[in-house]
Amino acid sequence: MKTVGAVLWEPGTRSGWSVEEIELDPPKSREVLVKLASSGICHSDDHVDTGDIPLGWGPILGGHEGAGVVVEVGPDVTDVEVGDHVVLSFLPSCGKCRMCAAGVSQMCVMGGGVLGGFAPDGTHRIHARGQGVGPFSYLGTFAPYVVAPLDSVVKIDADMPLMPASLIGCGVPTGWGSAVYAAEIELNDTVVVLGVGGVGMNAVQGARHRGAKNIVVVDPVASKRDVAKDFGATHAVADFAAAMELIAQMTDGQGADRVLITVGVAGPEIVEQANQLTRRGGVIVLTSAAPVLQRQVEFDLFTFAMSGKRLQGTLYGSTRSRLDVPLLTDLYKRGELKLDELITKTYKLEDINEAFADMRAGKNIRGVIVYDD
Ligand SMILES: NC(=O)c1ccc[n+]([C@@H]2O[C@H](COP(=O)([O-])OP(=O)(O)OC[C@H]3O[C@@H](n4cnc5c(N)ncnc54)[C@H](O)[C@@H]3O)[C@@H](O)[C@H]2O)c1
Ligand SMILES: [Zn+2]
Ligand SMILES: [Zn+2]
Repeated sequence: MKTVGAVLWEPGTRSGWSVEEIELDPPKSREVLVKLASSGICHSDDHVDTGDIPLGWGPILGGHEGAGVVVEVGPDVTDVEVGDHVVLSFLPSCGKCRMCAAGVSQMCVMGGGVLGGFAPDGTHRIHARGQGVGPFSYLGTFAPYVVAPLDSVVKIDADMPLMPASLIGCGVPTGWGSAVYAAEIELNDTVVVLGVGGVGMNAVQGARHRGAKNIVVVDPVASKRDVAKDFGATHAVADFAAAMELIAQMTDGQGADRVLITVGVAGPEIVEQANQLTRRGGVIVLTSAAPVLQRQVEFDLFTFAMSGKRLQGTLYGSTRSRLDVPLLTDLYKRGELKLDELITKTYKLEDINEAFADMRAGKNIRGVIVYDD
């Protein structure tokens, strides 16, 4: 079918997104065609434009945070049918590999190929200007229709509104799970969240669910600091120096129990800051993507070992899509997870470059592309 999509022809060159006609093939074996309601704009999409995540291939159809309705199923599709409402997970889960069987489906072997430039079977479903286009995360939600692998699709109840559901494709579980699963926040903990955008704001919600006593957010943008209080932050400061002072007061100089890094682009400085904010025996969670070629961090290894701290990486906030997508929609319906409030502004697909400019300027918690007919 012919539709439109936002394509990066030269990833890594900050060329911006070109909204143009694309051709989608019909779904093949174990694939479905989904008509999207909306797509969130995650900072990870920007990394392929800036080159912080160098792809080594192009063109790419961006977007990996979507929800919609199944409109066509390919051969061998048993789990969902036409008319089902689904969230598209930015990480697939095959259900059969060792990692899936071990209950860590965010580490599914299929995940290794999500930025490989093809559908899981190594061919293209998307075409533009007469050539194949690779998808972001096997998806490409910057188009009103997506041919998605069944392993990336999670069915949700039809009474779950689709626009907030789209954020459960990446940012919400990544932030929420960073706090709940990766940091293993405990009752009464003092927690610091560094950077409260679309991911970090959900880390704040996760910290609140776990019963943290103090949730200190650090963000240079005043509006983010204000909004963070509605999501459960107890304190908000603009920079590292203010955070150090506050945490020292709160903890009698001991340091925070858990520190989560959810800034737009990670680097050595933020990891060092997180380390300084963390108490002995505490946990630092690194959720943010750093530029792939960033290899060095100044780290006092002796003190690190003797401090008993843990530096924990996390993919998808260590959530498992088939378990946590239904859990998060349920929490939303029970009024225990804010999703609508994450959406600062909606955009039409043709205004996608404005949406990215707003993200970089710190204007949005989440910008969302809305598709109409
Ligand atoms: N690990 C994963 O599986 C995973 C999944 C999704 C996103 N990510 C990554 O998470 C990061 C956050 O994504 P997002 O969509 O929330 O980005 P975003 O741009 O919406 O939010 C980033 C926030 O960090 C703030 N910030 C920037 N520098 C800061 C600093 N030095 N101190 C404190 N705050 C600072 C910004 O003002 C902004 O509010 C990105 O690097 C993204 O690629 C990782
Ligand atoms: Zn994302
Ligand atoms: Zn698997």
